[in-house]
Amino acid sequence: MAEVVIVEHEEAAGRLVADAIVALIRSKPDAVLGLATGSTPLATYRSLASRIAEESIDVRGVRGFALDEYVGLPAGHPESYRAVITREVVEPLGLTPELVRVPNGDPASIEHAGADYEAALVAAGGVDLQILGIGRTGHIGFNEPGSSLASLTRVKTLTEPTRADNARFFDAPEDVPMHCITQGIGTILRARHLVLLAFGEAKAHAVAAAVEGPVTASQPGSAIQLHPHTTVVIDEAAASELENLAYYRHAWANKPNWQGI
Ligand code: F6R
Repeated sequence: MAEVVIVEHEEAAGRLVADAIVALIRSKPDAVLGLATGSTPLATYRSLASRIAEESIDVRGVRGFALDEYVGLPAGHPESYRAVITREVVEPLGLTPELVRVPNGDPASIEHAGADYEAALVAAGGVDLQILGIGRTGHIGFNEPGSSLASLTRVKTLTEPTRADNARFFDAPEDVPMHCITQGIGTILRARHLVLLAFGEAKAHAVAAAVEGPVTASQPGSAIQLHPHTTVVIDEAAASELENLAYYRHAWANKPNWQGI
C-alpha cells in the first residue's frame, strides 16, 4: 500500500518532499530526479530551491528526466515542457542544464524519440525519486485512461478534459497540442521511489481511485499500487474521497522519525 500523508497545504507538502530530495542528494550527489510539470510540483521546486541556496547544497551533478512533452510546439515555445523545466526547475535550483533531459517532441524525430528516451533513462541507471502529479482523468505522466500498465515512453493523444485543463497555460484552448510524448506507466514504475502529489477537490476522485480503487488501466494512477515505495502527499481536499483516512493519519502520526518518507 502507498503511504498517504495528509498535509495542511501545498507549502507543507513542498517542504516534506524537498526534505526527501535533499536527503537523497546528500547521499547521492548525482541522484536522478524524475520531474513533473504542471502546477502541482511548484511548491516542491520552490522549497527545494530555497534549501539548496540556504544550505549551499552542491547540485551540479544532479540529473533529471522530465515525464513528458508536447509534440509539435516550436522550439523555445514558453509552454513546451523543455521551457517549463528550464524556468521552474533547472534555473531556480541551479542544476546543470546538460544533465536534465526532456522527451523530444519534434515531429521530425518523433518515431524514435520514445526509444531514445528509454535508452537514456537506462543509461543513467534509472530514476531515484519520481515526482508525480495526477490529472482529473486519473492520468500520471500523460498516460490517459486505457494506457497499458506496462507501457514505455511513446506518443499519446491527450483527452479533451486534459486539453481543457491545460488551456490555462495557452492563449487559446485550441493551441493546446493534441499529442504528447510521455514516459509510460511501465517506465514510471521503474523509478525507485514514487512521490505523488495532489491538491484540491478536483483531484479527490482521481486520488481515491489511485490509492484505493482496483488496479486498472482505466485509472492509470492506480498503477502506484504496484510499486513497493510510493508516497502520496495530499491536502485535505484531495483526500476527501479516501475511505481509510483515519488509518493513514494514524500511521503517519506513529511513524518512526528515522524512516523519512
Ligand atoms: C506533468 C504531468 C501531468 C500532471 C497532471 C496534473 O508533467 O505529467 O500528469 O502532473 O496533469 O497537472 P497539474 O499539476 O497542473 O494539475
